[in-house]
Amino acid sequence: MLFQLTYISTASPSLILFDVETILEGSRRRNGRDDITGLLIFDGKRFLQVLEGPLDHVEATFSRIALDKRHRALVRLSSRHVDRREFGAWAMASHIVGPVTGKGDMVAQVEALTEALPDPNLRATLRGFAQIRG
Ligand SMILES: Cc1cc2nc3c(=O)[nH]c(=O)nc-3n(C[C@H](O)[C@H](O)[C@H](O)COP(=O)(O)O)c2cc1C
Repeated sequence: MLFQLTYISTASPSLILFDVETILEGSRRRNGRDDITGLLIFDGKRFLQVLEGPLDHVEATFSRIALDKRHRALVRLSSRHVDRREFGAWAMASHIVGPVTGKGDMVAQVEALTEALPDPNLRATLRGFAQIRG
């Protein structure tokens, strides 16, 4: 049974871009091992992450993530069973956007990224996140 969990969190004040790269490196390795796919978006202040995979692996990973001091105020936006993966190709796709990297427009990037998502609710969640600023 495939499970998909989406949450947002706030980066701890001391977090710098280098840390995000480190988080991604480790995440891709462990997620590959754990059969977890997903997406991580960071806009300089907040994270939004989708984790997909076997229920016990997703919950175990989320439990570790929830204890991580590099972010706080985690809020689960959705957790549900899915028939198939929506981020199947990625051990952890990432988009680091916004003022930190100068790569600019989070709204446009997330729109493009979510174009092909089969689930309208998840698409709306991700797009909504991109539109909230500050
Ligand atoms: C925003 C954020 C996203 C993370 N995403 C993942 C992830 O997808 N997979 C993962 O294994 N660890 C992820 N981590 C790292 C975990 O919090 C944790 O450090 C890592 O799993 C190693 O756990 P351990 O030290 O208990 O072995 C993330 C951390 C943060 C702050």
